[in-house]
Amino acid sequence: MALLFKGKGTVGLDIGSSSVKLIELKPGKRKGYQLVNLGVASLPPEAIVDGALMNSSVVVEAIRSILGSLKLKTKDVATSISGHSVIIKKINLPVMTTEELEESIQWEAEQYIPFDINDVNIDFQILGTEESEAGQMGVLLVAAKKDMINDYTTVIQEAGLNSVVIDVDAFAVENMYEANYSLQPGEIVALVNMGASVININILKGGFPTFTRDISAGGSQYNEEIQKSLNIGFEEAERMKMAGKSEEEQALPQEISGIVESVSDSLSSEVQRSLDFFSATATEDKISKVILCGGCARTIGLDRAIADKSGYPVEVANPFNNIEVSPRAFDADYIANIAPATGVAVGLALRWAGDKK
Ligand SMILES: Nc1ncnc2c1ncn2[C@@H]1O[C@H](COP(=O)(O)OP(=O)(O)OP(=O)(O)O)[C@@H](O)[C@H]1O
Ligand SMILES: [Mg+2]
Repeated sequence: MALLFKGKGTVGLDIGSSSVKLIELKPGKRKGYQLVNLGVASLPPEAIVDGALMNSSVVVEAIRSILGSLKLKTKDVATSISGHSVIIKKINLPVMTTEELEESIQWEAEQYIPFDINDVNIDFQILGTEESEAGQMGVLLVAAKKDMINDYTTVIQEAGLNSVVIDVDAFAVENMYEANYSLQPGEIVALVNMGASVININILKGGFPTFTRDISAGGSQYNEEIQKSLNIGFEEAERMKMAGKSEEEQALPQEISGIVESVSDSLSSEVQRSLDFFSATATEDKISKVILCGGCARTIGLDRAIADKSGYPVEVANPFNNIEVSPRAFDADYIANIAPATGVAVGLALRWAGDKK
């Protein structure tokens, strides 16, 4: 899926609200891919709000700071957006070819998009006829405001890169998952990407998204609660909630463990509401597991909280499962720590020439 597609995108650039993450891959020898470049730069809170770039120059600076320390093989970038300005809808249309739908999509989409059709970029994916009435086919329709796409493209250009693909976070996560793990036929998997301010949910069925939703909630809620009750700043709260790598560092400081637990409980309830909604509308379909990624996936106890609330097994995704990471070029501890947060960036970096899914 791509709201903008101009050839091959090889560098994945995830412009998240807490940090920019860059990944460059190449085909691997032992595994499918090999990690070539990885860069992360944090952003101050409020630089991006609900997916909108509120402070573009800070974002440009963050991308430049990553580029300063890396030698990229290409300047072509795939990035993605999420939040309320992105509309994702499953619709039914009379069976037709991709070419026919390309011709008529503007017209077909008009009634489903709450914005002026001339103000949005549209893309679609044909889902097949399996679950539709005779003569009909399912189509996944995606639309986003041109203004927003323009803002992202401009920021990328100002940082000295070319924006060739604009995708949607939830689909990038799907791309990451499919490249790293094998989906069993008929298996229904709920992908949950929990970042600092958005939770992207994408439930896959038969390898296609069957339910997607972005929830405005995320890891910054831990910080807010910790800051409030201990009367400390953002950075200190951020340090306190992080899991360390040694055995004893795997426990949370006592003064925040209750707070973290209650925020995890409320974030799990948010996730559960969407899973319940899916189960209520698709009564035949049973989710077999929840795959968790995003920076929050490393929060101590969050995976268990989601498992307890939902009753589904929860696994934390490793976006480098099928990617060779040279221990000479990259510090293994650093990679293990950052891995879950790179789900979107890895999915974007997997956009090779001609891959238009
Ligand atoms: N080791 C860790 N333990 C606990 N929380 C962590 C850890 N590492 C990162 N986080 C949290 O994960 C969140 C950032 O995740 P991520 O990088 O996926 O978000 P983002 O893409 O910047 O934001 P969003 O997609 O919501 O706009 C932050 O709230 C951060 O505090
Ligand atoms: Mg993100």
